[in-house]
Amino acid sequence: MAINDTIISILNRRSYREYTDKAISEQDLNLILQAGTYAPSAKNQQSAQLLVLKNDIKREALRTLAVKKFGHDPFYGAKEFVLVAANKNTMCPIQDGSCCMENMMVAAESLGIASCWINCVEELFNTEEGKELKKSFGIEEEMMIVGTLILGYAKNYPEYPKPRKAQYVRFIK
Ligand SMILES: Cc1cc2nc3c(=O)[nH]c(=O)nc-3n(C[C@H](O)[C@H](O)[C@H](O)COP(=O)(O)O)c2cc1C
Repeated sequence: MAINDTIISILNRRSYREYTDKAISEQDLNLILQAGTYAPSAKNQQSAQLLVLKNDIKREALRTLAVKKFGHDPFYGAKEFVLVAANKNTMCPIQDGSCCMENMMVAAESLGIASCWINCVEELFNTEEGKELKKSFGIEEEMMIVGTLILGYAKNYPEYPKPRKAQYVRFIK
């Protein structure tokens, strides 16, 4: 079987950390979100929710909280955020949410859109101020944030990929 567009998108996907101001189209965003919802989930529980942060004031409040805690913007100035939340009381919330994240990152790559997994939102939402913010976003307490996907157009192509580890794949015979 020859290499195909899906494999090429997987191999080319990178984490982008510099974004232009250009917004991605609603059509592209919807395709990326749809790809996320078609991720597999344990027992088909579909435990994840893709929370698209479309309110500028709320998005900037999250960024401000992050800057206050970490001393820099961990979202790299990006404007499109998808918080992948998953219900803590389901079988595999982290795995289910992670599958959504990866589907969306590969879908974004296939559309020429840059993305990066940002991990700090669950930590932020566990602070006193963060709990209030989480509530103001309408996110239920039992939902954890598995990851946040930032999306946009890349200013710069990242330097690596780093070489793959020698023992990444092992055949057990
Ligand atoms: C679970 C997870 C958490 C990550 N968290 C962050 C993060 O908070 N900030 C960031 O810049 N990149 C984050 N990344 C991206 C990784 O740093 C990146 O995938 C890795 O360096 C390999 O680079 P590549 O994605 O370009 O191949 C995360 C990736 C994963 C899978």
